[in-house]
Amino acid sequence: LRPTHRLLSCPGPVAADLKREEQSSRNVETGSEDKIPKKKFSEVQKERREQAQRTVLIHCPSKISEKKFLKYLSQHGPISNHFFYESFGLYAVVEFCQKESITSLQNVTRTPSMDTEAAIPFKSRFFNVKMKNPSNQTSEQPCIRCSNHTPPSSKKLSELLCYAESIDDQLNTLLKEFQLTEEDIKLRYLTCSLIEDLAAAYFQDCTVRPFGSSVNSFGKLGCDLDMFLDLGEIGKFNTNKTSGNFLMEFQVKNVSSERIATQKILSVIGECLDHFGPGCVGVQKILNARCPLVRFSHQASGFQCDLTTNNGIALKSSELLYIYGALDSRVRALVFCIRCWARAHSLTSSIPGSWITNFSLTMMVIFFLQRRSPPILPTLDYLKTLAGAEDKCIIEGHNCTFVSDLNRIKPSGNTETLESLLKEFFEYFGNFAFNKNSINIRQGREQNKPESSPLHIQNPFETSLNISKNVNQSQLQKFVDLARESAWILSQEDKDRPSPSSNRPWGLATLLLPSVVNSVSLAKKKRKKPASERIKNLLESIKSSSPENDTNTNGK
Ligand code: GTP
Ligand code: MG
Repeated sequence: LRPTHRLLSCPGPVAADLKREEQSSRNVETGSEDKIPKKKFSEVQKERREQAQRTVLIHCPSKISEKKFLKYLSQHGPISNHFFYESFGLYAVVEFCQKESITSLQNVTRTPSMDTEAAIPFKSRFFNVKMKNPSNQTSEQPCIRCSNHTPPSSKKLSELLCYAESIDDQLNTLLKEFQLTEEDIKLRYLTCSLIEDLAAAYFQDCTVRPFGSSVNSFGKLGCDLDMFLDLGEIGKFNTNKTSGNFLMEFQVKNVSSERIATQKILSVIGECLDHFGPGCVGVQKILNARCPLVRFSHQASGFQCDLTTNNGIALKSSELLYIYGALDSRVRALVFCIRCWARAHSLTSSIPGSWITNFSLTMMVIFFLQRRSPPILPTLDYLKTLAGAEDKCIIEGHNCTFVSDLNRIKPSGNTETLESLLKEFFEYFGNFAFNKNSINIRQGREQNKPESSPLHIQNPFETSLNISKNVNQSQLQKFVDLARESAWILSQEDKDRPSPSSNRPWGLATLLLPSVVNSVSLAKKKRKKPASERIKNLLESIKSSSPENDTNTNGK
């Protein structure tokens, strides 16, 4: 069960601060709705990481006086930002202005003495506040007020969509309601930073970085937290220190392949998280997957985490998606819409299997936007031509070079509305020659499929790989059928738009809410396949999701 995040706020000046935060969180990282210069991905990562290093996580009693709490903490130094949320209990995220404040706080914090368990004396940045006299605090209770921080319920979403003025407005509403908030992003970077403290006990100069949808600007509230353990110099065995007679012991303790090294590193980190990781529960080591990983729940933040190492290409893919998301404000709106649509119709799932992944769907939207006339997004090859010397990047022999400065990319002259793009997206993929063509965002045009997988989306960096190799024919067919039906529903919309006061679902609402997609489910029923075929498909999905056939790498 994933706990809900509820942001707690206060009346008075603090509430005003939070309100401002909330407003500023609308543009999240990309600044795509602002005219301010857009930050490079690496700048955002650096800034956020530094913020997280000055931040602590505190489990608070539910009856707490915020004023006293902050007053107590500010004895250790000025606080630049804080917020409360509810996961399994009440938590505060407190960002100090200086890192030193944390050491000061740690120095006056005691390790709990337990009767039945021995505490490991690891100085974490995750604290627990125990009140001596909780009853004294009750008079101040009304101070903390809850504000919800979860994606909207279907009912609320349906209402919001019904009252929107246009389909464009509906897409923007969906984006606004589902995108990660400023606080959620802060908590993601903080969680990585807390895990890094632990991993650093083994690998001194390591870095734990978030990647995937937590940072690529396409994350929906509640999405998993993908982490990458970057061993930096330690990981590179052939550093240039070749002179001298001494070899470090770890360097001679060779293993036969890089994969085995990765498995061993993740194995010890997995053990470490399991035994000593404050708030880390349900640790699973999935070391035999194509990309080995450790999966666990960070209970305090409520995030489902996937930790990998040796995965620089995935971090580069996140940067590429970040760039695409920041180039035009229509990109994220459309991707969120397609992701929500796919989820509503069970085209995607949180369980790996033969279904399309969010990553593949995002690639399909990017490809579609490259195919518009004039194009809304440039090809990856074009982004490569804009790259400066500092952007040159080769990872494991793959050229991952592309421009990092967003301001060097000219905006598109295309003025199509979101409504028309959505309709066209469904038309385009409802009629795409999947049997012979591959989707290729590097060149921005279809290519002949080099192999026979039903859906072929070329991995933009490891170009001989297909990122959707896991998708089977029946899942692809389901996608195509739904795309056609959705195109049809949207084309009927123009003729049949209800007045806003009628409270009847229209536009996106008819496409997204399973309870109202009657026409789609009816059409599906009409064409329902014989039971034998459905069972065959089911078996096929199970087969392709079993570990030995784990072609769904999840990029990890
Ligand atoms: P959600 O978690 O579904 O919100 O999206 P996500 O983009 O984070 O996807 P996921 O957690 O499955 O994977 C994390 C990242 O790994 C992605 O953003 C990609 O950068 C990368 N990735 C995922 N699947 C693949 C794949 O099949 N091939 C490659 N090369 N990278 C992948
Ligand atoms: Mg993810």
